[in-house]
Amino acid sequence: MQPSTSDIHADRVLILDFGSQYTQLIARRVRELGVYCEIHPWDASEDELLAFGARGYILSGGPESVTQSGSPAVPRAVLEAGKPILGICYGMQTLAASLGGRVEPGEVHEFGYAEVRARGHSALLKDIEDRVNAEGHGLLDVWMSHGDRVVELPAGFKVIASTGDVPIAGMADESRAIYALQFHPEVTHTRQGQRIYERFLHGVCGLGSAWTAGNIIDDAIERVRAQVGTGRVLLGLSGGVDSSVVAALLHRAIGDQLTCVFVDHGLLRHQEGDQVMQVFAMNLGVKVIRVNAADRFYGELAGVDDPEAKRKVIGRLFIEVFEEEAGRIQNVDFLAQGTIYPDVIESAGAKTGKAHVIKSHHNVGGLPERMRMQLVEPLRELFKDEVRRIGLELGLPADMIHRHPFPGPGLGVRILGEVTRQAADTLRLADHIFIEELRRAGWYEKTSQAFAVFLPVKSVGVTGDGRRHEPVIALRAVETIDFMTARWAHLPYELLDVCSRRIVNEVKGISRVVYDVTGKPPATIEWE
Ligand code: XMP
Repeated sequence: MQPSTSDIHADRVLILDFGSQYTQLIARRVRELGVYCEIHPWDASEDELLAFGARGYILSGGPESVTQSGSPAVPRAVLEAGKPILGICYGMQTLAASLGGRVEPGEVHEFGYAEVRARGHSALLKDIEDRVNAEGHGLLDVWMSHGDRVVELPAGFKVIASTGDVPIAGMADESRAIYALQFHPEVTHTRQGQRIYERFLHGVCGLGSAWTAGNIIDDAIERVRAQVGTGRVLLGLSGGVDSSVVAALLHRAIGDQLTCVFVDHGLLRHQEGDQVMQVFAMNLGVKVIRVNAADRFYGELAGVDDPEAKRKVIGRLFIEVFEEEAGRIQNVDFLAQGTIYPDVIESAGAKTGKAHVIKSHHNVGGLPERMRMQLVEPLRELFKDEVRRIGLELGLPADMIHRHPFPGPGLGVRILGEVTRQAADTLRLADHIFIEELRRAGWYEKTSQAFAVFLPVKSVGVTGDGRRHEPVIALRAVETIDFMTARWAHLPYELLDVCSRRIVNEVKGISRVVYDVTGKPPATIEWE
């Protein structure tokens, strides 16, 4: 039986971040195993670390070298907490260095697959193997990415894994439940990785698995009710996954105390506004006010062609329209937002100056202070995949939950240069055809983001009626995990052919269709 919902945070793990690109992946693996976890920087204060009340610690990898003076080190408070610890890669090296072992720079940087032999029958790796060799030793296929290596164990430790090149590829002091691995169990290339995390969390730490979609919903509902009481809550609904899930969740928690404002800025996708109204107002019975502000947006965007200036106009207008509408509703006490956990981590990073800005992404972050309302953020602890899972559990349509991401300024950044109603209408239709054909061909799910872009350059074409001199549509489809880097999707020629024919034939005023074959970097995903 699952423990009561009030317990879903009780079994908690703290992931200490040393700057690895895989840190969030570790957290997602832990959550998938039903255990709540948070990521904190390695240099968090001792008070912060202890106040968290972790039942186990995971130390991430990181780009630095413990052989350099002043490099990040595992805090004393963690070593002395008396809870199980799992160090990964850099996490292993800092454990070794801090506990009296020795780490040396490796002669070669080991990156990629390695075959590891499990040793010493440790509680972490015992009976976890991909295959067994002739002598009966368990072997694992793992993913390595490191330069330095541990060459001398700290006192009390034994070797629990080794490779041909790296004799100490894992170590443990089982009396203190401290384990460390040189390889990365969180990446899927380490085939038994999830079993290793499972063993650490459920076996070594003895944690349950209360962190499930159903329990997360029950817990969020309880917490929202406790926070809001009989107060009234306002939500800016955009039709994107996060705000949609917040709407469904809050509606379940507080029913009519929730009012959603949906600003239709005229830069949405084909029939998107109607779908939002259909799902929320008609099917779920959520109170949604749709504001048709397209004319106002087109009006203020007239003559503006700089991408950043356009973003600013759209962001400012969005806030103005939203505030005006909110002003008409009496006695609102709370503003709900679809902030998710990666936003929380990112804004913490931004405060320390680690993040850096390529485009000013539009959001409604400035609203709560201006409107003097308390925030309700029921998704603050969740990763995107968890948000999707609870969205489905709450009964939202799968195509809404699995929709490609859409930027806040909408088609405004996909119409190059000046935004006009005519360009928006043209683009909407071309984009719709592209997406429809991608879905038909089974490519929508294989791409992370796909869309059409309106290019205001005129190109010459020839059709039955004679010469055309009209704008161009570019198609863009990318595959990516984190949207920081992306590969252009190698769509089949036949599919591109169908899209091109349909767009030129069915969308008035387009002379030509091109496909964008640029990765990120050097290009960004959006054209502006
Ligand atoms: P770029 O173009 O920076 O896009 O490679 C990366 C991801 O961010 C989305 N994007 C935005 N999202 N407001 C948003 O909310 C914006 O101004 C914005 N610009 C880009 C883009 O769609 C992609 O998923």
